Amino acid sequence: MSNTVIVGTQWGDEGKGKIVDMLAEKAGAIVRFQGGNNAGHTLVVDGEQCILHLIPSGVLHEGKKCLISNGVVLDPEVFLKEIDGLAAKGVDVSPARLMISKKTQIIMAYHKLLDNCRESMKSADSKIGTTGRGIGPCYEDKMSRIGVRAADLADPELLRAKIEAALVEKNVLFEKLFNVEPLDPEKVFQDLLPIAERVAPYLADVSSEIQNTIKEGKSVLFEGAQGVHLDIDHGTYPFVTSSNVVAGNAAAGSGCGPRQLERIIGICKAYTTRVGAGPFPTELFDEVGDTLQRVGHEFGATTGRKRRCGWLDMVVLRETARLCDLTEFALTKLDVLSDLDELKICVAYEYRGEKVAYPPQEQNGMAHVKPVYESMPGWKGDITKAKKYDELPVEARNYIARIEELSGVKVGIVSVGPDRAETIVR
Ligand code: GDP
Ligand code: IMO
Ligand code: MG
Repeated sequence: MSNTVIVGTQWGDEGKGKIVDMLAEKAGAIVRFQGGNNAGHTLVVDGEQCILHLIPSGVLHEGKKCLISNGVVLDPEVFLKEIDGLAAKGVDVSPARLMISKKTQIIMAYHKLLDNCRESMKSADSKIGTTGRGIGPCYEDKMSRIGVRAADLADPELLRAKIEAALVEKNVLFEKLFNVEPLDPEKVFQDLLPIAERVAPYLADVSSEIQNTIKEGKSVLFEGAQGVHLDIDHGTYPFVTSSNVVAGNAAAGSGCGPRQLERIIGICKAYTTRVGAGPFPTELFDEVGDTLQRVGHEFGATTGRKRRCGWLDMVVLRETARLCDLTEFALTKLDVLSDLDELKICVAYEYRGEKVAYPPQEQNGMAHVKPVYESMPGWKGDITKAKKYDELPVEARNYIARIEELSGVKVGIVSVGPDRAETIVR
């Protein structure tokens, strides 16, 4: 297998975890390169479900290296909880195969507090609906050059100094602006020490691990989190997450060269969903939307919130194809569309009196577009048992062919159920 990047093409929760788990069998190493435990990636193997927030989705495959690289923001408590849960199931989570880059930014107690203070202070229409995991404030500290990095967990004096420095400004905000108790730097430090001690053995030079894997003739699988329309630059700003989600960040976020990224697979749900606030042109507020939500079990894997549902949006997908130079799509949850009489595809937007093929670039422009729809007949019956492409009903194959036509990107993988085995590779 070539080195492969997996990106979410929509607003997250497209089924990245499932596809990464499936492809991990052929990889030497699996790397999480951005985001943090705002992600929730679901794997189902032989009917058993496993939700991962930080650990790469290749972990269920024995012997594969699982790497958390510099572009990630890591909550060490969540990391330990996740490895304890996996270890209890008999999964090997030893530092021999699971590693954290020494350059990874650490999510601190004050980041989580700040995230939640900010959200609760915002007016109803400006709330982002973050996951409350401290993601934004942690990336802010990274960019302000005052972040705590994973290597600092093994250097208590540096750690203490960084916490003291970071809290100088933040405590003013907590006390004066948000009216909450300021944090005692010494307590933050002492609380972190036992956690730091447990995380320290996992620290590694992840960039070198990636290069060594490639030198051994094995391939690397880069596991994106979120979706391209949540990207800090290219998403529906300001209703986005705080990292670059686009495929190019797999290089910067992990310490490899862009030429080493060979195959770029965009994971695409057969319809569209979004959790949290922000524009969503094809959102459905009718019975069909409720059906997609119910049949697709569309609840957030991290926060349990109901996901908003709508028709497939080709404007969104075209933009992702262009931003990521996708080599193919993996189309997921096709089974959820079974038994709908009519399927709609948004092929363009009307924006300021014109028909446009790409999202507007102005802030919140997507809130002011009108979707232009095409309609296709649906299919009846269960498709989850299909093992070959030809076994899909002709209407399903036509739907896929139309997606390929409208995007210029081929669909290489079709997922017809949550289980690893419920997948068709063309
Ligand atoms: P991720 O964040 O992109 O990894 O996606 P999530 O795990 O948050 O959400 C995807 C959900 O859809 C999970 O519950 C998966 O088990 C489920 N899923 C993935 N692929 C399929 C599929 O083809 N059909 C159905 N019915 N469910 C799927
Ligand atoms: P996976 O990897 C769906 C959304 C949040 C919120 C916005 C900002 O499972 O696809 P943040 O906590 O990142 O500051 O929240 O981004 N969001 C996601 N939505 N799937 C995700 O991850 C998400 N990660 C963040 O709901 O709207
Ligand atoms: Mg998810």
